[in-house]
Amino acid sequence: MAVTRKTAGRGFGLPFSLVFGDRVAKGSERQVHRVVDEPDVLLKTMRRKYLSHIGPDADRSFLGWLRVQQAYALYRRELRAYANAMVRAAIRQELPPLAGLCGLVLTEKGLGQLVERISSADGGMALTLEELLATGPLAQDRLEALNHFVAALYDWHIPAYDLGPKNILWDEMAHRFVLVDGFGDRAVIPLKTWVRTLNNRRLDRAFAVLARKSGLEWQRRARQFSRAAPAA
Ligand SMILES: Nc1ncnc2c1ncn2[C@@H]1O[C@H](COP(=O)(O)OP(=O)(O)OP(=O)(O)O)[C@@H](O)[C@H]1O
Ligand SMILES: [Mg+2]
Repeated sequence: MAVTRKTAGRGFGLPFSLVFGDRVAKGSERQVHRVVDEPDVLLKTMRRKYLSHIGPDADRSFLGWLRVQQAYALYRRELRAYANAMVRAAIRQELPPLAGLCGLVLTEKGLGQLVERISSADGGMALTLEELLATGPLAQDRLEALNHFVAALYDWHIPAYDLGPKNILWDEMAHRFVLVDGFGDRAVIPLKTWVRTLNNRRLDRAFAVLARKSGLEWQRRARQFSRAAPAA
């Protein structure tokens, strides 16, 4: 259902009030909406089940504030990881393998994340890796792009815990895969953020899981995917 009421707030100095457009996806944690008159961004809000138990003055008690932080832990985790990646980007002068995070905005559905909208060449919804694989084996150039994405996650030291094929989008214009979800460090003591080898091992496990879910073959030593050999 499209929501048309203007949002009350502005976030991080963004110079416009947002109007919710159609909902384009509903994940297990967030709803994803278009923004009217802003075709290059999407607005993600937490699903109601995460916010319904939090009253307007919850942050004034210690336990209440913990609950508020927990409800929005996903945003804070992604923002930290994104900020680290963009600091690297400043040195490298290239983009990390993540969809852009444009900021946090106040909306009538709680705090929202404004994100870069990854799209197909005709401006439609970008295909997820899951959708691409459903159409048949990956073409050679896509497989190469996927392996480029894999190498980039290690190289950029991106902490990731859910590399499910729905979280990896094909950015047709840039001819590359990007991660839109499942990144950031969930640990209270963020060792994987600090220690590259620990992060690499976590990525090894996450890519092995992706291989099982996607039917691709994961070559652990080379840290690359190949097409699964046909069954004998
Ligand atoms: N930046 C983006 N550009 C285009 N489409 C996106 C973008 N981010 C998310 N989507 C679409 O919305 C879907 C759900 O988004 P997302 O994975 O962020 O939600 P979630 O609730 O965190 O997911 P999950 O169910 O994995 O927990 C994605 O699978 C993708 O199809
Ligand atoms: Mg997801």
